Amino acid sequence: MSEAERSATGRSQGGTAPLSAITLRVNDQVRRLEVDPRTSLLDALREHLRLSGTKKGCDHGQCGACTVLINGRRVNSCLTLAVMHEDDEVVTIEGLGDPEGLHPMQRAFVECDGFQCGYCTPGQICSAVGMLAEVEAGWPSHATAEVASSRIALSNEEIRERMSGNICRCAAYPNIVAAIRGIAEGGPE
Ligand code: FES
Ligand code: FES
Repeated sequence: MSEAERSATGRSQGGTAPLSAITLRVNDQVRRLEVDPRTSLLDALREHLRLSGTKKGCDHGQCGACTVLINGRRVNSCLTLAVMHEDDEVVTIEGLGDPEGLHPMQRAFVECDGFQCGYCTPGQICSAVGMLAEVEAGWPSHATAEVASSRIALSNEEIRERMSGNICRCAAYPNIVAAIRGIAEGGPE
C-alpha cells in the first residue's frame, strides 16, 4: 500500500496512529484523555490515568491480573481497547475501597491471608466481586451440577472453577477461596 493509499484509508504501518479523544468513567470520575486508538484499557488505566492498582501480568488474557469491572462485569482489561469504553462504568481496585475504607472483599483477603506478593490480588478481588454477582444472577458454571436450579450453592469447586481465570503465582489459592467463601456466606461487612 502506497503512502497516499495509507493516508486515504487512515491506516498506518507501524507508525503512530492519529490520537482519539475519549471519555472514560473510572471509579466515579469522568476522565478525558487522548490515546492511540490501539491502546488497551489496561494501558490507558496504568499509563495514562496512573491507576497502577490494575496489574499487567501476561498482557494476553491468560492470567487475570488486569481484571477490572466494566458495568459491573469482570473483564480482562488487557484484551479490550480503551476507545471501546466511552461512557462505560469502569471500576478498578482503587474504586472498590481504600486503606481507610476497605471493600468487604478486600478486608476478607487481608483477614484470610489471601495473598503473598500481592501482585495478582487486585485482579483476584475485582474478579471475586464480579463473580459473586454472576452467582447471584443464577449463572451456572462448568462445575454447577444443577444448571436449572435458581439457587447455586457456592461450593469450593464452584469458587475454584469460577476464579480459574485468575492465576496466583504464589499459590495462595486455599486462602483466596476461604476469603471468597467467607463473603459469600455473609462474612465481614
Ligand atoms: S494481563 Fe490481562 S490477563 Fe494477564
Ligand atoms: S499473591 Fe503473589 S501472585 Fe498471587
